[in-house]
Amino acid sequence: MHEFEVGTEKTTSSQTRISLPRLRQVSNPKSIHGIYPYRGKISALDAAHVVAQLPPEDVLLDPFCGTGTILYEAQLRGMKAIGVDNNPLACTIARGKTAPLVPEDVLECLQAALRRAKSMATPPSMPDWPARYFHPTTAEQTMRVLQVAPIFNNYLLSAFYGAICVAARGCNNWLWTSNSIGRINRPLRKIDFYKTLERKVAKHLAYVRGGSGVQVILGDTRKIHELIPERSVGFVYTSPPYFDALDYTGYYTRLVMEIIGIDRSEVRKGLIQRYSSYRRDMKQALRAIDRVARDDALIIFVVGDKKVHGRLIRGADFFMDIAPWNDPYVVERVYSSTASGIWDQINGTRRREQILVWDRSQGA
Ligand SMILES: C[S@@+](CC[C@H](N)C(=O)[O-])C[C@H]1O[C@@H](n2cnc3c(N)ncnc32)[C@H](O)[C@@H]1O
Repeated sequence: MHEFEVGTEKTTSSQTRISLPRLRQVSNPKSIHGIYPYRGKISALDAAHVVAQLPPEDVLLDPFCGTGTILYEAQLRGMKAIGVDNNPLACTIARGKTAPLVPEDVLECLQAALRRAKSMATPPSMPDWPARYFHPTTAEQTMRVLQVAPIFNNYLLSAFYGAICVAARGCNNWLWTSNSIGRINRPLRKIDFYKTLERKVAKHLAYVRGGSGVQVILGDTRKIHELIPERSVGFVYTSPPYFDALDYTGYYTRLVMEIIGIDRSEVRKGLIQRYSSYRRDMKQALRAIDRVARDDALIIFVVGDKKVHGRLIRGADFFMDIAPWNDPYVVERVYSSTASGIWDQINGTRRREQILVWDRSQGA
C-alpha cells in the first residue's frame, strides 16, 4: 500500500467532475480491506473518494480488481461494479468482501466447521515448503481447517486465507515486515490457529454490505471483450499490474497457495508483470478495455514510476504512450515516509504515483 503526500487538483470530463485531493493517510483500519494482505492494494480511502464522485446509477469496471478494494467501495455507494482478475485467490477475496451474507449463518458455519476440524482424525501434513514457517501445532490446526473449508463461503475462505498469513507471521514472532517476510525467526511460536481464524472472521464481518450489484470474473483482461458486453461500461477505474515489481503470487500469497493447493506457476503464466512482454501485454489489455468502454466513458488508472535496469520509467509517460486514448489529465503524488520513500532515498530516486484520467469522448 502506498503513502503519498501531495496532489490536490481537479479535472472535468464531459459528464463528471473528479477531484483528486491531498491524502495524509491512505489506509483505513476500520474496514474490510485488512482481511487479506494482498500485494499492491490500492488505497481504500483514495478509492472511496473517487468512487463517491461517480454517478451511482452507472456501471464501474475494475479490469485488474485484485482483492476488490475499488469494487467494495463502489458497492458501498450503491454502484454496480464488475471486477476482472486472473488470480483465483484475489477473486475469492474480492467476492468474499462483496457477496451478500447473513452474519449469524457465517458464525454458525464457522463453529460447525471448527467442531469438525478439531474432532477429525489426523489430517494430511502441510506441504514441506510452507511448513518451514509454522509451529507444528499451528500447521496441524491449519490443515484440519483446510479439510473442512469446502463448506466455507467466500467470506469465510477470505478470512481463512487471511488467518493463515496472520498465523505465519505470529509463528515467526511477529517479526515479518514487507522487507523481512519469509525470514524464519526461531524458536517458532505456537499460534492457536482456531482462535486466529475466529478473531479474523469476527473482525471484518460487520463491514460486509453485500448488495447484489458486484460481479467478480476470473479471467484475462487481455480478452475482457469476450467476458463483458462491448460498449457497456461508463467508468473504468483500476490500479494495473506493475512490471517486474510486484509478484501477485508471492509473499503471503505464495504461502497460502502452497497450503491450499493452487498451482502458483500456472497462475503466474496468466498475469501481466514481466518487463520483457509488459508493453505488448498491457497494450493488448488496453485495447480490450477500450472495446468494453462506452463512447463517453471516463477511464482512471493509478500507476507508478518504476526503476528498470537502472533507469526510472515514469508510469504516466509509459501509459500515455501505449493507451488508445488521448490527452489524459494527470495528477502526480510523491511517496512519503514509507518503505517506498526510504528506498527512494537510498537509491537516489524520487518515484511518484500518478493518476491518469482519460475522457473517452475526447477521442480514442
Ligand atoms: C495492482 S494489483 C490490483 C490490486 C487491487 N486494486 C486491490 O486493491 O486489491 C493488479 C492486479 O492485476 C492482476 N492481473 C495481472 N495480469 C492480469 C491479467 N492478464 N488479467 C487480469 N488480471 C491481471 C493481478 O493478479 C493483480 O491482482
